[in-house]
Amino acid sequence: MKKIIITGGAGFIGSHVVRRFVRNYPEYTIINLDKLTYAGNLANLKDIEDAPNYKFVKGDIVDIDFINQLFETEQPDAIIHLAAESHVDRSITNPLEFVMTNVVGTVNLLNAARNNWKGKYDKTRFYHVSTDEVYGTLGEDGMFTETTAYDPHSPYSASKASSDHFVRAYQDTYGMDTVISNCSNNYGSYHFPEKLIPLAIHNIQQNKPVPVYGKGENIRDWLWVEDHARAIDLIFHKAKSGSTYNIGGHNEWKNIDLIKLLCTILDQKLNRPAGESAKLITFVTDRAGHDLRYAIDATKLKTELGWVPSITFEEGLEKTVDWYLANEAWLNDVTSGHYQDYYKEQYSNR
Ligand code: NAD
Ligand code: TYD
Repeated sequence: MKKIIITGGAGFIGSHVVRRFVRNYPEYTIINLDKLTYAGNLANLKDIEDAPNYKFVKGDIVDIDFINQLFETEQPDAIIHLAAESHVDRSITNPLEFVMTNVVGTVNLLNAARNNWKGKYDKTRFYHVSTDEVYGTLGEDGMFTETTAYDPHSPYSASKASSDHFVRAYQDTYGMDTVISNCSNNYGSYHFPEKLIPLAIHNIQQNKPVPVYGKGENIRDWLWVEDHARAIDLIFHKAKSGSTYNIGGHNEWKNIDLIKLLCTILDQKLNRPAGESAKLITFVTDRAGHDLRYAIDATKLKTELGWVPSITFEEGLEKTVDWYLANEAWLNDVTSGHYQDYYKEQYSNR
């Protein structure tokens, strides 16, 4: 029996983690704590919302009184912390929001855990979900390992790096049981279409320009979101206190090659002549401080916990495209309203 608070459970990765835990561990109680920002959507969890071991609580991790109250009433045994502002472009426009949620929000959770778990650190766990972007950027060679020095460049990655440091500080200073994982770029269902893959699928489908930053030569290491959720499950249950794991797909793609592949897949799926969708590719002004290359060395996770990705990128991408084509209503819902304003602002001057 365990009671776990999962923060950010209504977001992209969080919804996959919540679904996995609710389904696989009926003996656990899963509390999804989420503020429901523009990125949070309870429709992502429709299929499990009535499960007897699931509960949703709306709240802000920046609100310390609310967090303390929640800990007191629920007495959780563990936290899996995913709530964050997660989009680099938004962090360039509004860094302070990222400091508030990603840094202050994380420290609030650590403090609430510290107050409530004193004397119980052997029976509790604080799992912090982080990103490979804390390591900065790679040149043509090399990969990020768990011992690569932190070197963040965007306000987003700086805020995530800061929160990682706080989590380690609470382990070292107070003896709290913590684990951290740093994952590469995820893709899959329920991904908000401000990020590259869902944005490209959506725009290609709608015959709109597909914006490629700079020359499209930046490289990302893509991992299917359900493989990330499976890694989180494994690390949560098996990792040693204080440990860190890198999670990645061994799957590096130049943005332009990835977008061309999506165009080819969508030409086939939408019965368009070969090459039709690629005409939508539009090169736009580069992102400021744009990291060139991310690549994860996930050897530690493989050798210590036996994790490897379960599907190839080709399989995962096809599943993902099929999901977006079959879930137009979801896409229309999340792209209406405020997202329209964001999109106009973000791309009108590029
Ligand atoms: P997301 O933006 O899709 O979801 C974030 C969720 O957090 C949303 O449901 C939102 O409502 C919630 N949230 C935001 N601010 C909050 C607050 N103040 N209080 C409570 N809830 C709040 O993000 P994602 O892509 O699912 O990422 C989840 C986590 O994984 C983040 O910590 C991110 O840094 C990390 N991560 C993401 C990726 C990726 O490729 N997306 C890769 C590695 C790590
Ligand atoms: P993104 O999905 O925002 O993830 P991150 O910046 O966290 O890696 O972007 C992935 C890559 O795609 C990144 O190199 C920026 C680039 N990109 C574009 O070329 N065009 C776009 O419209 C977006 C959103 C991203």
